[in-house]
Amino acid sequence: TIPHLALILIAYLAGSIPFSLLVARARGVDLRVAGSGNVGAANVWRTCGFGAFLLALSGDMLKGALPTFAAQMLNVPPLAVVTVGAAAMLGHARSIFLGFRGGKAVATGGGALLAMAPLVALAGLAVWGATFSIVRISSVASLAAAAACAVVAAVFFAQGALPMTYALFVWGAVVSILLLHRANIRRLRAGAENRF
Ligand code: G3P
Repeated sequence: TIPHLALILIAYLAGSIPFSLLVARARGVDLRVAGSGNVGAANVWRTCGFGAFLLALSGDMLKGALPTFAAQMLNVPPLAVVTVGAAAMLGHARSIFLGFRGGKAVATGGGALLAMAPLVALAGLAVWGATFSIVRISSVASLAAAAACAVVAAVFFAQGALPMTYALFVWGAVVSILLLHRANIRRLRAGAENRF
């Protein structure tokens, strides 16, 4: 339907807004050449500090959460909600404002998931925080959080507590996030990943 297509477009455009890049730019840092070069909240923390990270994280999460939440409020079927969340992630990873480049969609995917399946998202957030506090490597924390979300979604789905469409979103998002971390995984294997 038209509202659904409009929502997908809005979600893609919202996802395209590079909040992390903007927060860093306001502090005189170009994320694309500083730190890891990634336009994500972790790189804001690395290059601009924790306060800036929280701001960037909030922006990048909200642009995933708000369109997804709006879709739910419009009572569209779960599959349509999922496409809206996926469109926001796509916007972050392939931003129309950044020449179709972008970040790794962890915060934006997490935001979309927060609207769809809050408990799964909170489990991911907890695993991110716990892993990061131990290893101090953001990519390891993100990959561990993604893996945890995949498992928690499988458990909830098996118990009938998560619709199949939302479970498929989680697994699809996890695969996408894994693919977007290829360079990180290469650096990790080479023992050359950025630490904090
Ligand atoms: O969310 C992105 C994070 O997993 C990796 O970011 O800057 O360490 O490559 P970065």
